[in-house]
Amino acid sequence: MKHLLNPMDFSVDEIDRLLDLASDIEANPQKYAHVCDGKKLATLFYEPSTRTRLSFEAAMLNLGGSVLGFADADSSSAAKGESVSDTIRVVSCFADICAMRHPKEGAPLVASTKSSIPVINAGDGGHQHPTQTLTDLMTIRALKGRLDHLTVGLCGDLKFGRTVHSLIHALSRYTGIRFVLISPPELRVPSYIKDDVLAARLIAYREVENLDDAIPELDILYMTRVQRERFFNEEDYIRMKDCYILDKQKMKLAREDMYVLHPLPRVNEISVEVDQDPRAAYFRQVQYGVYVRMALIMTLLEVEQPC
Ligand code: NCD
Repeated sequence: MKHLLNPMDFSVDEIDRLLDLASDIEANPQKYAHVCDGKKLATLFYEPSTRTRLSFEAAMLNLGGSVLGFADADSSSAAKGESVSDTIRVVSCFADICAMRHPKEGAPLVASTKSSIPVINAGDGGHQHPTQTLTDLMTIRALKGRLDHLTVGLCGDLKFGRTVHSLIHALSRYTGIRFVLISPPELRVPSYIKDDVLAARLIAYREVENLDDAIPELDILYMTRVQRERFFNEEDYIRMKDCYILDKQKMKLAREDMYVLHPLPRVNEISVEVDQDPRAAYFRQVQYGVYVRMALIMTLLEVEQPC
């Protein structure tokens, strides 16, 4: 039985196959409308979410399956002190697969060791968010036609942003990837990722503070929100929350074929005037998230692809 806890749990070949399946689902959704009839997805969300949870739910419903679960820890037995290990053993009796979001790094990994159903990490603290990464990869592949030989700018809270950590891991396996890491000094990518991933794989990267200087060379600009809930004090958050605001003026500095991605939710870091720009891809990205999660559920449940 396979889980998805970290983007590296799938090989590059497996990711290619999954993205191909997601593209086929996008092209022929009706073909997949009943492949998960009778199957159940449990969504165990101990931390707030709109997109990820609803995207998982929509994905399972689109496949003909059904969904059960909870959307906050207070409405689950966690409020009575139940451990994640016990909860997953119980949920294994009710569902065929589960997606878990948790504020503690490693909670989905712990759950997977006690689970008799596949566990999908839907975001664990400031650590990883592999299904957002699959979404990002599908978006980049659809827009640029490839996942190699790209200069990718990651901008904002690179310290606490789990989507950034997972995306760096995943893209580092493709050839010719260069990263421009744009953040204030306090919000740089953690050194364990710089050492264990970027340096270990000899990936070209630069850390810069200024977005205007970096933007002209980028193929992809991945904007992120400053992760308020992970800050130790509110003053630091207030000081840094508006450190980058992508607006029309800045978009003028970018190439005609540079696309802007954002995992969402957006706060102030992308001005709404940018939404009209054809290079703004963040709402299309949400749609790709559903196809990719459909492909993931099918893959982990080992559902045969209909002909
Ligand atoms: C992201 C997350 O939860 O890490 N949201 C999402 O799942 N699309 C990004 C964020 O919250 O900033």
